[in-house]
Amino acid sequence: MCGIVGIVNHGKISIKNDLLKSLKRLEYRGYDSVGYATLEGKVEKEIGEISKFIDQIQDSTTSCAISHTRWATHGGVTKTNSHPHWDCKKNIFTVHNGIIENYQELKTELINKGHVFITETDSEVISHFLEEELKSKNMMDAIKSFINRIEGTYAILVIEKGINKIYAIKKDSPLVLGIGRDRFYLASDIYAFSDSTNKAIFFEDGEFAVVDPDMYTFYNCDGKEIKKEIYDFTWVIPQEESVRDYPHYMLKEIHEQPIASQRLINSLDGEQHDKINKIAELVKKSNRVVFTAAGSSYYASLLGVYFLNRAGINAHTLIASEFQNFMLVDKNTLFIAISQSGETMDVVTATKWAKERGAKIVSLVNVPHSTIQRMSDISLEIHAGPEICVAATKTFTNQVVSLLYLSHLLGFSVNMKTIPSKIDYVIKENEEAIKRLADELYEKKDIYIIGRGLSYPPSREIALKLKEISYIHAEGMMGGELKHGTIALIEPGTPVIALIPGKDFDMYSNAKEVEARGAKVITIANMMDSDFKMDITINDGKFSILAVIIGQLLTYYIAKKKGLPIDKPRNLAKSVTVK
Ligand code: F6R
Repeated sequence: MCGIVGIVNHGKISIKNDLLKSLKRLEYRGYDSVGYATLEGKVEKEIGEISKFIDQIQDSTTSCAISHTRWATHGGVTKTNSHPHWDCKKNIFTVHNGIIENYQELKTELINKGHVFITETDSEVISHFLEEELKSKNMMDAIKSFINRIEGTYAILVIEKGINKIYAIKKDSPLVLGIGRDRFYLASDIYAFSDSTNKAIFFEDGEFAVVDPDMYTFYNCDGKEIKKEIYDFTWVIPQEESVRDYPHYMLKEIHEQPIASQRLINSLDGEQHDKINKIAELVKKSNRVVFTAAGSSYYASLLGVYFLNRAGINAHTLIASEFQNFMLVDKNTLFIAISQSGETMDVVTATKWAKERGAKIVSLVNVPHSTIQRMSDISLEIHAGPEICVAATKTFTNQVVSLLYLSHLLGFSVNMKTIPSKIDYVIKENEEAIKRLADELYEKKDIYIIGRGLSYPPSREIALKLKEISYIHAEGMMGGELKHGTIALIEPGTPVIALIPGKDFDMYSNAKEVEARGAKVITIANMMDSDFKMDITINDGKFSILAVIIGQLLTYYIAKKKGLPIDKPRNLAKSVTVK
């Protein structure tokens, strides 16, 4: 994960108003610590969030600087372990996103040659490796040796003290050059500079570039100059309510779901209609559909499997990090990657793997121009708008809406038109009751959520929300599986949320079984006794979205009652770009 931004400018840039302002836009990639280095050799870094850092430091100007926002992998969250890192003479400064897998071996070699390391990170090896190579080579050749020798994933920016240039190197972690009016940006993604230019060049694996205020030059891993295409991107940020009306982004984003789902449905009826029809044709032509995704997006894909199976389509899904271990694909497979960010490393890796085996690649992403979108034969945009809270809420809903729409084209019966109004109803009618329930549950250690069929993926998604945002151990599971072991954990008062779609009597019985053992059962149902109002009298898939929204609100109000950092929960990042 981690976000990196470098700027090379003709005149001076402000560290606070240019460099760190851009970096702030990448904070969703990690917020453990922040730091920057300038060509003058000035370095400042600190643990914590970027806004706090901006308030702490004095502004200064430079014409060339690199910066980093960290999600710790190797080495604890300390000031020393924060990027940038440097070499022994403090001449070479580097920021890195990714993991240097063979760093132990390289570090030992470099220590034997007299280098002194001061951090516990894998990344520090980069500056020392370049320093060593520069004893006998120029920077271009040192970078070539680096690419040959280093194993792992990386997007790296390098500056040398006194030289107005940034060297940028990429393998498996995203990196893009932004072409501004008077400056060049190097960043983890276009979002860093999309307020000042819409021209960008994406790095491919094994490429590096040398960028000074006048020009940029791209090279392949052998150091051969290459021509790259300039990409003109559009970035339309939908008008949404201001966060000022809400205490947290999470609540704002939950409340945006009627608008966001309507925007998506309009686009699927309109400008994205041809695209989704083409995807439906690909589904029909393929032998089977295989989804992959991570986290919440995986639970959306599980619903996709449910809907497509109901439409008679042979569909499967598997968590991206285990995809190669448990799944086979071939040229008759339609592979569908689902990813809000379009950057999740596990999903990128699985997609590459499927592509190499000849599968057709379709993706559902929220962030346009993302890596996964660029790898796809067809990519549908879910139009949820920017999601700032680390937890997926409106993007999960819009992923499910896209899958419902696709399944509907293939024969699954659902009334798409009423989705936004039903969401609106569920939020308005239940929010007060949910606050009261949050007051009852916030001190609980464990919560179980059970579902079946249509309500099984929502049980997993609600459990994930409770874990990541309200820090309560929660398990989402199949109602039918309880009696095979987990029911032993049910004690008097253990909260069990039972998701009962339609007249699912088996699910109802599973709720009764735990109730008989003293559990505090809370029901989310649309045609049977329910603790919440739903206003859906048919069983057409919408239950899954509405049940999750009740779970999102419950999570939010529990976390609020506990005074937790709702939008930026501990240890997490919004874009997970490491394996
Ligand atoms: C949970 C959450 C994560 C993401 C997961 C995949 O609220 O946000 O579990 O769903 O990291 O991210 P994307 O969808 O960007 O691939």
